[in-house]
Amino acid sequence: PNPVFSTRICPYGAEALREAALLIRAGEPVAVPTETVYGLAADATDSSAVAAIYSAKGRPSFNPLIVHVSDKDMAERLAVFSPVADKLAARFWPGALTMVLPVRERSGLSPLVMAGLPTVAIRLPAHPAMRALIRESGRPLAAPSANRSGAISPTRAEHVLASLNGKVRLILDEGPTSEGLESTIAAPEDDRIRLLRPGPVTAAMLEQATGLPVITAMADAKIEAPGQLESHYAPSKPVRLNALRAEKDEYLIGFGLMPCNMNLSPDADVQEAAANLFAALHIADASAASHIAVAPIPDVGIGIAINDRLRRAAA
Ligand code: TXA
Ligand code: MG
Repeated sequence: PNPVFSTRICPYGAEALREAALLIRAGEPVAVPTETVYGLAADATDSSAVAAIYSAKGRPSFNPLIVHVSDKDMAERLAVFSPVADKLAARFWPGALTMVLPVRERSGLSPLVMAGLPTVAIRLPAHPAMRALIRESGRPLAAPSANRSGAISPTRAEHVLASLNGKVRLILDEGPTSEGLESTIAAPEDDRIRLLRPGPVTAAMLEQATGLPVITAMADAKIEAPGQLESHYAPSKPVRLNALRAEKDEYLIGFGLMPCNMNLSPDADVQEAAANLFAALHIADASAASHIAVAPIPDVGIGIAINDRLRRAAA
């Protein structure tokens, strides 16, 4: 039987950080904010700690995890950087870009992290809480989004509690995340970049930074990033997209000036909409309405990633 914990939410600060680092070093997962979504973090070099992540999330063990580092040196001890990877790191780290790179033979990473792949997904986050936890624990941290597998990602500590109550001891609370959507996942090659998951760092930004074409090979991505399963980020209710008005029994999530139950951005700002998206889905899911409808979101900039998540929520 899986262990059941009493879950505590602690405001981020020196005291909570010390306790979180102790838990990490003892092989326990801890929920911690990043600028994208809250992560469920554990020592990426400790197989039983990594196994505890999979079990808390109910995540299939064939779906590999992202490893978080506090600096580029740590990243280079784990993975092999090509010149293109170096360029992307210089431009977008710390930040919301995850790179899929060949894993080093002596990385020390638990093989469970890669789920059998010869590559590892690495990210250097910008959020001070996650970076401090990596430094304080002295370990690279494997961290998927801190929600039950397949459910909506958490952008607030309360979302983590609602999804993982009893499955994690400690949630570091540092308020709502600023980006609101999971990091972009990209696999840099010598002459092109494969985009495995759209996110805050857009294809146009990757292209501009490297001068290389970006292939949005989502068919590819389904095999390579199993987390990109068609149904994902899914509320428990049916979701209808491109809705211009609410039908009977629908909770309407709006965008721009329109009558609705909750508005992602009355000013029609896609960045603001991204930051509000998952919280809106959580609220719609908990509402009395039996169905969820979402207004059309422009497919530009981070709107591309919003529409990717919405399609999966509706699948
Ligand atoms: O913003 C984020 O990326 C958040 C925060 C916590 O950092 N993390 C996150 O992790 O979204 P998760 O586990 O929910 O998504 C990780 C994705 C999965 O789709 C997984 O399949 C993919 O990364 N992935 C991990 N390792 C991979 C690899 N070696 N090759 C391809 N895809 C990989
Ligand atoms: Mg996830």
